[in-house]
Amino acid sequence: MDDGFQSQFQGETDGLQTRVPVGELLTEAHFDAERERIFRRSWLYIGRESDVPEKGSHMVRDLPFLKTSLLIVRGEDGQVRCFHNLCTHRGNKLVRGGAGCSRYLTCGFHGWTFETDGTLGTITDEHQFRDLDRSKLNLPQVHTECWEGLVFINLEKEPSVNLAEWLGEMYGQYEGYFDRLVCATRMRVVVNCNWNLAVNSFIEGYHTKYIHHNSVPDYQGGRVNPQRHRPWMELFERHHRYSAPANPDHKYTAAEAIAWNWGKRCIPSFDGDMTGMPPGVNPGRVDNWAFDIVQFFPNIVMAVSNHRLMEMQFWPIDVNHTEFIGTVYLYPPKDLGERISQEFVRSRARQVVFEDLNTLEAQHQMLSSGQLTHLQLSQQEIAVQHHFKVAGDMLGNRGE
Ligand code: FES
Ligand SMILES: [Fe+2]
Repeated sequence: MDDGFQSQFQGETDGLQTRVPVGELLTEAHFDAERERIFRRSWLYIGRESDVPEKGSHMVRDLPFLKTSLLIVRGEDGQVRCFHNLCTHRGNKLVRGGAGCSRYLTCGFHGWTFETDGTLGTITDEHQFRDLDRSKLNLPQVHTECWEGLVFINLEKEPSVNLAEWLGEMYGQYEGYFDRLVCATRMRVVVNCNWNLAVNSFIEGYHTKYIHHNSVPDYQGGRVNPQRHRPWMELFERHHRYSAPANPDHKYTAAEAIAWNWGKRCIPSFDGDMTGMPPGVNPGRVDNWAFDIVQFFPNIVMAVSNHRLMEMQFWPIDVNHTEFIGTVYLYPPKDLGERISQEFVRSRARQVVFEDLNTLEAQHQMLSSGQLTHLQLSQQEIAVQHHFKVAGDMLGNRGE
């Protein structure tokens, strides 16, 4: 039955499949191909410029599935760079973990030091080395570009496109957005499921009525849109985004009444306050806007709203395991009332995310049985269709 609320679709739909084959998806061979042809060839978001705020600030990002650890450093010149976290003497891991701030990066094995721009500094007992070529012993650099305070890296020797080309139309549409919000909480969970399934679960709203019927039973849809069709769905060359529909008839719960009395409405953005929002936020300027879901292919999903950003990173560990890093960013609280209000947002976000993750493990378990040959995808799951199209293109599944 057609409930009368039509989604607006934007973008190219050629090549999308409503039945996506999954016979190979959970195999080691497919995962190896994804690692080499997708993750080693994509611009990957790995952190914020604000994670390395001072000259000499650095942080480590271990990526074991790519067989490396990365070191993100803000140099003395203020520029953010990324290196393989590797001492060029005998290959020790230069910084063991976490984050810090120092004038030089010093290897704990034999004491070599490196400048914050990656240049080799001191070689201890240097005269004992006979034929060193210092020019070849700087830290191995990784292509790094920053966009709106977000740091992206690319592990290709020479990336085929730059970050602006990679992000396409979205590149100019989020000016100032990410800087408006500050980190409020972060959660890290290892999920027993494949990374594709994890990403897919966060790029469709079809499930919200069912998985989240206890925690957030009526945030979305309502009488005007009972099946919660996405009012705006937009496909780009590699990425996509859609807007979720708020329920205009939603009545505050007792907890919400307290939270929204003391602070800004965050889940969803019922207030529709678009003051100062760049064009990428609620791009269709739809009525009853709840939030946007944006996927930065391959492994980042952001739930974008005016007072809140939920950033979700899905890092493969192996074919059957994914590290989920979820970060909630909120408007900077100006008083105790807003801090208390934000506690509600934090706890609600956690609950909803854990409902999603719990379902994923069950789905992965049953897909592993091999009994299902294809995923069946509706128009409301068009972003999932698009995810697999982009992945298929990078894997070379077409035209080979
Ligand atoms: S391995 Fe780093 S100084 Fe020797
Ligand atoms: Fe969900």
